[in-house]
Amino acid sequence: MTTKRDFLTLRDITPQELQMLLQRAQDLKKGKDATRCPLIGKSIGLLFEKASTRTRVSLEVGMYQLGAQTIYMNPKEIQMGRGETIHDTAKVLSRYLDAVVIRTFSHDTLKEFASHAAIPVVNGLSDLHHPCQALGDLQTIIERKEKLKGLRLAYVGDGNNVANSLIEAASLTGMNISLACPKGYEPDPGVLKKAKESIGAEIAVVRDPVEAVRKADVVYTDVWISMGQENEASRKRKKFEKYQINSTLLSNARKDAIVLHCLPAHRGEEITDEVMDGPRSAVFDQAENRLHTQKALLEFLLA
Ligand code: CP
Ligand code: NVA
Repeated sequence: MTTKRDFLTLRDITPQELQMLLQRAQDLKKGKDATRCPLIGKSIGLLFEKASTRTRVSLEVGMYQLGAQTIYMNPKEIQMGRGETIHDTAKVLSRYLDAVVIRTFSHDTLKEFASHAAIPVVNGLSDLHHPCQALGDLQTIIERKEKLKGLRLAYVGDGNNVANSLIEAASLTGMNISLACPKGYEPDPGVLKKAKESIGAEIAVVRDPVEAVRKADVVYTDVWISMGQENEASRKRKKFEKYQINSTLLSNARKDAIVLHCLPAHRGEEITDEVMDGPRSAVFDQAENRLHTQKALLEFLLA
């Protein structure tokens, strides 16, 4: 019997597997095997405790294209919302489904679910990681820059789930990363420590956005207020004022630097309209690439 593979963080795959997935995503995007349905007859659960546009729709469409069906579950509408345990839910869903993608608050919920599930569990976003996002980000960077190793990515803003997964992406690919975060909003120390211990990427956390962006090939940001942090909104908005990606900040990056944002964006806060809709922005290609990379991922985990 083969053991199931989970994808809770980017570190659940090897650097070689990551390269293979990104290559497969490029092939799928070009239409290779468009009529093959490697996941025919499979059922993929989407257990989402939080809102989603890109992750949900790209998975629903992508799984249909591969021959699988998806079943969307809002935890409030299944018995989990009435107190059925994660343990029991994971055991039961494993009897019906072939894989489950979970979007949740606590990363521990995801780990607990995965420890009881007999099927692959994919992280569709937790408060600590957003590894499916990082896959789409890497595909977009390769499309625009034709490589990852040796590039410099500057992340400006909150040291959140997206930032943590980008740090792991850098450590697995040899891409250098500088993050500019206000005091108290740095990335997860455990993620940083492990990333710094592994292969040759430079990883730096600084305060000054200009310093982070200098010589960057890719400039990345995310919302200041993540899902579930609404009660901290006014405090965070003040702290993050200087962390906006605008034309002035972008002028410190390389002339051919591209701009990424995982979306949804709060236009006028972490990014200006001018930058988001400008010639350097690759944000809609990036959103599209969620589709191709997640197809490659689920095929890898299940086919
Ligand atoms: N980037 C991302 O995960 O978007 P959604 O929240 O819309 O899924
Ligand atoms: N950091 C954001 C990402 C949304 C895709 C959040 O967690 O809400």
